[in-house]
Amino acid sequence: MTKIYFINDLHWDFWKKQNYSPEKFFEEFFLPADVCCIAGDIANDFIDSSTILKYLKGRYKKIIYTLGNHDLGIFKKDKYKLQLPRTINKKQAFSKVIGEHLDGNIIKVNGITFGGACGSCDWSWVYKNFETDDAEYLTKWQDWFDCKWWRMGSTSPWQIFDWEINKLKKVAEQNPNIFVTHFHPLSCPIPDSYKNDKMTGVFIYDDSVLNLQPGTIYHFGHTHSKIKLEQNGILYLNNCIGYPGDLIYEFGQFKKEDFLIELEDKNDT
Ligand SMILES: [Fe+2]
Ligand SMILES: [Fe+2]
Repeated sequence: MTKIYFINDLHWDFWKKQNYSPEKFFEEFFLPADVCCIAGDIANDFIDSSTILKYLKGRYKKIIYTLGNHDLGIFKKDKYKLQLPRTINKKQAFSKVIGEHLDGNIIKVNGITFGGACGSCDWSWVYKNFETDDAEYLTKWQDWFDCKWWRMGSTSPWQIFDWEINKLKKVAEQNPNIFVTHFHPLSCPIPDSYKNDKMTGVFIYDDSVLNLQPGTIYHFGHTHSKIKLEQNGILYLNNCIGYPGDLIYEFGQFKKEDFLIELEDKNDT
């Protein structure tokens, strides 16, 4: 058997500012397991991400993660920016700290398969719920994704979506046991506190095109509301830490034990 602890939206830098040590952070939000699966948003600054990932690496046999928008963004105050040549993608820096990065690939642990990628938005949710147009989307997207500093290989949201959805399709075709994205799948309920904000749409995509199979565990992040929900045979998990003071219990009073899952090992290792 393999124990997996699912967690996302660590935002470690915000907790560090509240005088949390890595030990206190672990005690409060984590549980021991063989594998820790992280669905993105580790910290804004790469140096902070690196500190907490290295600490967690000492507490689990394996860390598997996908990056979130906060991990990929390079912010004005980002200390790491100064050390980062503009031609280097921030993703490569993460891989040097922890190699188990999901970005359109499959990782196997005791025969259990993890697959995923960060994801991107397809605008479908915004178009359905708000009156808007492409120009407004583009402005909103650029406000967040700041094309000056993001190194996603393109400044076109449509191009980036195309790349990300193709990675996810390739992974989904291989029917992984655990599917991970930072972006919120449209097939899982959106918290009420996010529904009136057009910006929410910048982090949602229609996952029906992936045709995920019943029995899959879908671990996602971005929305800071915990959920554990079985729907059409898929078990959706969002165990966000979020920012201090966030409204994280909109869907119920989930405990960290709800996100510790033991799976039987598979033979085809
Ligand atoms: Fe987040
Ligand atoms: Fe996020």
